[in-house]
Amino acid sequence: MIHPTNRRAYWEAWYQKDEAPKHPTSFALFVEEQLPKAAAILELGCGNARDTAFFAQQGHPVIAIDASETAIANNTKRFGHLPCTFLPCDFADLGSLALPFPINALYSRFVLHAIPEPLEENILDYAATILPHGAWMFHEFRTTNDPLMREGTSISANERLCGHYRRFIDLGAFTEKLAKKGFSIESTFEGRGVAVLGKSDPVVARVAARKP
Ligand SMILES: C[S@@+](CC[C@H](N)C(=O)[O-])C[C@H]1O[C@@H](n2cnc3c(N)ncnc32)[C@H](O)[C@@H]1O
Repeated sequence: MIHPTNRRAYWEAWYQKDEAPKHPTSFALFVEEQLPKAAAILELGCGNARDTAFFAQQGHPVIAIDASETAIANNTKRFGHLPCTFLPCDFADLGSLALPFPINALYSRFVLHAIPEPLEENILDYAATILPHGAWMFHEFRTTNDPLMREGTSISANERLCGHYRRFIDLGAFTEKLAKKGFSIESTFEGRGVAVLGKSDPVVARVAARKP
């Protein structure tokens, strides 16, 4: 039995089961419409590469990272024929990531709410360092208005254990943080209906930002 605070073991076991949906998410489709042709993407927390494969099939070179070695090994086998590279990397170690080409867009889906705030800080500081001027950043995450925020066991004002760890994010506080780090906010959305999976229709935020 994996303890719900053991985030790494939880995701390792999840990808060993190989039960995650395989179709691209509606967020990936939404992002792809806004990306310049052949823009190079760094995907953080790619999971089973459902969105990585979609971006690569649309002609985007993608570097996709995840802490789960099982996910990375499976993805490398499954999608070796596409222009995407999978690298095992924890967000705590982004500084040691060797990027083979410059990145035009950073992408994360359902990742920021799966990690504690210091790792989010690491990601945003890394993005501010490596992204060239004009580059894009896209994030989709569960917000503090998601009903799941009231379920399970509370471990802080916005962190809960419900099967596994989640940190619900206040959209206003997040965009303020991005602005302080020098990003311009291009668009935001918060609501239901865009990340439906079976009976689950979470309240999520979508944020598109750019490095000016
Ligand atoms: C909710 S899943 C989202 C997967 C994928 N983006 C999707 O939408 O299907 C969160 C992902 O973040 C990864 N992850 C969690 N903590 C991480 C960390 N500290 N470093 C790197 N990846 C991490 C997990 O392994 C998992 O694949």
